[in-house]
Amino acid sequence: MRKPIQLSIAYRLLNPGPLVLVSSLFNKRAGLTPIAWHMPVSDDPPIIALEIWEGHFIYKAILQTGDFTVNIPSSGMAATIRLLGSVSGRKADKFKKYGLAKEPGKKVKSPRFKSAIGVIECKLRREDSILRKYNIILGDIVYAEAEEKIFTDRWTPEKNGPRILQHLGGKIFCVPDTKII
Ligand SMILES: Cc1cc2nc3c(=O)[nH]c(=O)nc-3n(C[C@H](O)[C@H](O)[C@H](O)COP(=O)(O)O)c2cc1C
Repeated sequence: MRKPIQLSIAYRLLNPGPLVLVSSLFNKRAGLTPIAWHMPVSDDPPIIALEIWEGHFIYKAILQTGDFTVNIPSSGMAATIRLLGSVSGRKADKFKKYGLAKEPGKKVKSPRFKSAIGVIECKLRREDSILRKYNIILGDIVYAEAEEKIFTDRWTPEKNGPRILQHLGGKIFCVPDTKII
């Protein structure tokens, strides 16, 4: 079960660089796009950044809706993530196509991926210069949740439970599962 987490530590969901699934709406159709290139930008105010090619359905959806959700899938979803990254939301509703459940956002219009182990809800921060020049989408975090079994005030790889997924490049993924100190 996910619990709400403080916005000031929501950036920690992204610290280890998990592969995320970004969702938003375009003409009422929900998109769900794998994104590996993202980063925390500020904890106060809480802001994150995504690097999304302007040809993607999800880019247009975020600009139209003005908000988005960043959903952190568990490691068991690697094969599905490959599929989600091989189709555009322009051609199909990927939630329906791959039998994935969605749920409404708490503070945004964009839907969330129901089985995510972490969720960050963001409102688009319209910084046109970096958006147009570098395709960097900034989001003000307005709400966040994380799976209580494995997130205290950080991810806890020392505990049993689901794991985040990291993208190494191409079709290869791995799982961080050891706390060193
Ligand atoms: C593991 C993985 C990571 C990806 N990371 C990014 C990324 O950081 N930025 C990006 O623009 N596209 C990235 N992609 C590509 C998009 O997810 C892919 O082209 C997708 O089908 C676009 O869907 P859409 O048109 O519905 O938005 C990634 C794909 C995969 C499989």
